[in-house]
Amino acid sequence: MKKRMTIKDMAKKCGFSIATISKVLNGKDKDISEETRKIIIKAAEENNFQLNRAASSLVSKKTKTIGLLIPDISNPFFSDIAKGIENFAYSKGYSVFLCNSNDQEKKEISYLKSMIQLNVDGILLVGTQKENKFKNNFKFEQPVISIDREPIYSYIKAQVKTDHYQGAKDAVKFLIKNGHKNILFIGGPSESNSAIQRYNAYLDTMKKHKLEINLKDIKFGNFSIEHGYNTIINLKNIYNYSAIFCCNDLIAIGAISALKKLNFNLPDDMSIIGIDDVELAKFTHPTLTTMKQSAYNLGYESGKLLIDYILNNTKLKNMTFKQELIVRDSVKNIK
Ligand code: RIB
Repeated sequence: MKKRMTIKDMAKKCGFSIATISKVLNGKDKDISEETRKIIIKAAEENNFQLNRAASSLVSKKTKTIGLLIPDISNPFFSDIAKGIENFAYSKGYSVFLCNSNDQEKKEISYLKSMIQLNVDGILLVGTQKENKFKNNFKFEQPVISIDREPIYSYIKAQVKTDHYQGAKDAVKFLIKNGHKNILFIGGPSESNSAIQRYNAYLDTMKKHKLEINLKDIKFGNFSIEHGYNTIINLKNIYNYSAIFCCNDLIAIGAISALKKLNFNLPDDMSIIGIDDVELAKFTHPTLTTMKQSAYNLGYESGKLLIDYILNNTKLKNMTFKQELIVRDSVKNIK
């Protein structure tokens, strides 16, 4: 079998140093002439030369890989974030080491250790929300950016998210504008700061409009279809309400299914609003009115922020986007 061409062979063949070859093939060739670049890239293509990532990282100290940790890959909100990140990373010749924590701290810590051992060039994470002194003592060489959920660890350099309080406030205000006074809230995980901000926005907005809140009917749980379904099926007082604010779209999808099981005619008998605007929101029946987070955009912008910093040392900054109301068919005006 033909011996694999090494970067040393490439240097000899092209008549340039190993460092020059590595710079050109790693895309860090700002100080290399266009003529030299063309010679090296042509030789690499003609000889089907692929950089050995491990070897070239010894020269460039870069692995051209970023780590991404998300809590639930089966939730389209997080898979859309991953898609945005991957699209930008690929355009810059970067690979993504994707880790799914299932919102379990033990898995999160294990994956963060793997990322350090793999010497990824940077880390993006939607972290689990439990405070942990071990996580606070992590020593990262590489930059770490938090997405979606506000960081609770000291080593985060920047965060990219939407305004969870604003989105929830606008969702509840939209229901009130449509004449609803008896509004049920179905909460997300009690330790998740995005869910907590939405809960606080619900309480503040209801109080501001002097509307009754029935705290014993409010159930916290996972950002899941099952939690939405079970909350509605088991709620004896469901007939006291004319509208439901769900902490995310998957909860809303579960609630819609349960309401139909209970022979509710939607939206005439019950209005529903969610948060995220995942693809499925367009295909529920009735189609779901919701607050758009643009998960793909969150991913793309956080991936760009990190890789621009790695490649060009651009400034790391916090980014917060407004959530946008998307009106579809699941909220009825009962004024
Ligand atoms: O759907 C998952 C939810 O958890 C989203 O609303 C997102 O904000 C995350 O915090």
